[in-house]
Amino acid sequence: MAHQLVIVLDFGGQYNQLIARRVRECGVYCEVRSYKTPIEEIKKLNPMGIIFTGGPNSVYDEKSPSISVEIFNIGIPILGICYGCHLMAHVLGGKVSSCITSEYGKTETVYDRSCILFGGVSDMPEKAVSWMSHTDYILEMPAGFKSTAHTDNCPVAAMENKEKKLYAVQFHPEVNHTEYGLGMIDSFLKNVCGCIGDWTMGNYAKTAIEDVRNKVGNGKVLLALSGGVDSSVAAALLSKAVGNQLTCIFVDHGFMRKNEGDEVEAAFADWDINFVRVNAKDQFMAKLNGVSDPETKRKTIGEEFIRVFEQEAKKIGAVDYLVQGTIYPDVIESGAGDAAVIKSHHNVGGLPDYVDFKEIIEPLRLLFKDEVRALGRELGLSNVLVDRQPFPGPGLAIRIIGEITDEKLKILQDADYIFREEIAKAGLDKSIHQYFAVLTNMRSVGVMGDGRTYDYTLALRAVTTTDFMTADFAKIPYDVLETASSRIVNEVKSINRVVYDVTTKPPATIEWE
Ligand code: XMP
Repeated sequence: MAHQLVIVLDFGGQYNQLIARRVRECGVYCEVRSYKTPIEEIKKLNPMGIIFTGGPNSVYDEKSPSISVEIFNIGIPILGICYGCHLMAHVLGGKVSSCITSEYGKTETVYDRSCILFGGVSDMPEKAVSWMSHTDYILEMPAGFKSTAHTDNCPVAAMENKEKKLYAVQFHPEVNHTEYGLGMIDSFLKNVCGCIGDWTMGNYAKTAIEDVRNKVGNGKVLLALSGGVDSSVAAALLSKAVGNQLTCIFVDHGFMRKNEGDEVEAAFADWDINFVRVNAKDQFMAKLNGVSDPETKRKTIGEEFIRVFEQEAKKIGAVDYLVQGTIYPDVIESGAGDAAVIKSHHNVGGLPDYVDFKEIIEPLRLLFKDEVRALGRELGLSNVLVDRQPFPGPGLAIRIIGEITDEKLKILQDADYIFREEIAKAGLDKSIHQYFAVLTNMRSVGVMGDGRTYDYTLALRAVTTTDFMTADFAKIPYDVLETASSRIVNEVKSINRVVYDVTTKPPATIEWE
């Protein structure tokens, strides 16, 4: 796929993926590469521009990540952000020093709009808020640079060498708190690098479909469909590309949310693919009989998933390609090459050993999660699948604390359904990133009518997060919690108490097991 490329050179900052996502929001394809990437390799990639990320180090510490001065002489425009800005100054002969007053958070910044980074943003005023996070600053700029922004404590909050197309900002334009930040990135890409913005999901779908067609020819393709966003979008793409040469095996382990198995099946009913649903609940329940340890549950389900998948795959016979729903963050996090294995371990417990296939296809390997959703919409996948919140591979089995029984599964499905309904009714389903119910193994005393009850305690969990690595509990209004709680205890037999989980991650995890 030939798209104009921009490289985000990673110096270890926490917002690196965010920078890459912002570049793509501007319609420009970009890849994150290590700062150690040899200059020769960068030249071969022929990028339109390079962005240096931030990082936790100080440039004057000898062990800090650095870069050869050569990179500034190959004629490719560069934007340095935070640490990247210090590095540009340092390597080109300027002076970086510890700040007299560090800046952290929203900072009033004065911009010189004759600099194209800011002047190229329509309606941008001379003064606006930027997001700062630094203890070093540029004390002296290298020769040929001029300061293009300042704050009360930072005389060089941005600098440029227009002739050499080198730009640097002390603040983080990729963070939402920086007003006009996305516009600045867009201006760098379009006005400095000359990018045309050809990265759209429409274009991507077209070329990805062609690529898959060319690769697969008349071959047979197999895909393990979980009902999650990634595997669903991969299935839709493959279906458009090779139609009924594709077989999707949907292993329903019985631990999906209420009606979910049927919803997944219905969503693919009109697609030109071979869709195999395996209702394997009894098989999974048998294996989990007497199991209450969380890790044993996870492993048992992961292994059984593979066994069921293999049994079905064998019926189809030898296939040429196996599709994996690997996405770009997996590729970045695991280092190129290892991604397929890591992802499948996480989702289904490992690659099937004796499904006979020649090669793996990963059609989403270049995409971020929000792009995967956009692609799904582009391909006409239903909202039920595209907007789905993350759901763990082992499903409700790890939301039932202790041993799993049919009765507990039914209780949890019903209660979880009510909670989801109430969240949606309150219009909170887009702002809360994950919300669900957990059936604790605890019973307590209650009173209903005139009688004593001794029933289960249900926990509600709802979190907001950007990356699911850390999370905050959602501040759901009390009246929404009240309605959900009252409906659950009234409508679901065997629950007489509802509690709300108010722990952040860390120290808790999002799931309870
Ligand atoms: P934790 O509980 O570790 O969860 O804070 C972080 C995110 O990962 C999801 N999760 C899983 N996803 N397979 C998955 O595909 C799994 O086995 C699994 N376990 C947890 C969890 O729902 C949350 O979004």
